Amino acid sequence: MVERSVVLIGGDPGIGKSTLLTQTLSYFADEPVLYVTGEESVQQVSLRAKRLNVNAPNLRLLAETQVENMMALAEPFKPKVMVIDSIQTMFTDLLQSAPGSVGQIRESAALLVRFAKRTQTALILVGHVTKEGMLAGPRVLEHMVDAVLYFEGQKDSRFRVMRAIKNRFGAANELGVFAMTDTGLKPVSHPSAIFLNRSEVDVPGQMVMVTWEGTRPLLIEVQALVDESHLGHPRRVAVGMDSQRLAMLLAILNRHGGINIHQMDVFLNVVGGVKISETGADLAVVFALLSSLKNKPLDCNLAVFGEVGLGGEIRPVQGGQERIREAQKHGFKRMIVPKANATKLKLVEIEVIPVTTLQAALNYL
Ligand code: TYD
Ligand code: MG
Repeated sequence: MVERSVVLIGGDPGIGKSTLLTQTLSYFADEPVLYVTGEESVQQVSLRAKRLNVNAPNLRLLAETQVENMMALAEPFKPKVMVIDSIQTMFTDLLQSAPGSVGQIRESAALLVRFAKRTQTALILVGHVTKEGMLAGPRVLEHMVDAVLYFEGQKDSRFRVMRAIKNRFGAANELGVFAMTDTGLKPVSHPSAIFLNRSEVDVPGQMVMVTWEGTRPLLIEVQALVDESHLGHPRRVAVGMDSQRLAMLLAILNRHGGINIHQMDVFLNVVGGVKISETGADLAVVFALLSSLKNKPLDCNLAVFGEVGLGGEIRPVQGGQERIREAQKHGFKRMIVPKANATKLKLVEIEVIPVTTLQAALNYL
């Protein structure tokens, strides 16, 4: 927490933003902290805090949605940290438009940012993101704040992921993993395999990769489906990954691997709703594509990582040794990795196959 900073926390309704922030404020036992609620009543927030066993004598709740009033009430209290839940419910008399409109969100946030700078308060703004409201909602605030965090999770999973999109005070692309329990959110300290539920049956088109999220390795499964196309333009659909990168990998596979998928529909899915933005996933994608094309399951004890270059070369990626160790920890028996990432390792129980070209990787496969 940094004085005068403004952090925006976005996420779907019901994901656990209010829960997380209530728990967060309970860490400031000695400092005055203020939770401003515009959505729930003071009683509701207080009930939740009790349920979460929050013991914070200096935590105050305030139910107010008119920004000027709210700031006048907050200022004498001199909060060290102030949470606004949510920015969509706030409005200022400076504008005629309804609360929740883009103008109101932006203007209210601007007033609050000025308040934070003036009073040295660390301010946290909650913003609801909905699939449709993506742009109209908190996105309009991203440039006004110091850090943007997104709180995400799958509907049927108890795991929640906090992701930094923008961070003026530390690394972006950091990942915090929590589990929602009946007593609030609990940190997950070894999250590397939470997205991995290796199926009992071997199915074609699946490949486990070790990707890199923020500062640690993460095991994730990627699935591909390559199928006959009945369209003039075969489809290229990538969920959880950049579809431009998929198109590039298909071209490399054709040129340097002699495998032509141009006339086929290609679907790619990163299991667990994770979004991959790192090039270390390339090799896993290529393998998953091939496995689906040939309709042959891959060795379920194999994990891979590595960037595939336009020349068909396999390039090293960050954190090679940590990735190999992580796969070993989770019982994988074999890894295909870029040659430069495989050096200097003395590992038992896992066979590391270093490759320098796509062709070499395919030959091994
Ligand atoms: P909430 O923090 O209200 O979400 P948001 O502020 O993002 O809309 O949390 C909503 C969900 O979390 C709700 O479905 C109930 C669940 N929950 C728990 O499972 N355990 C708990 O201890 C609490 C407080 C909430
Ligand atoms: Mg809430």
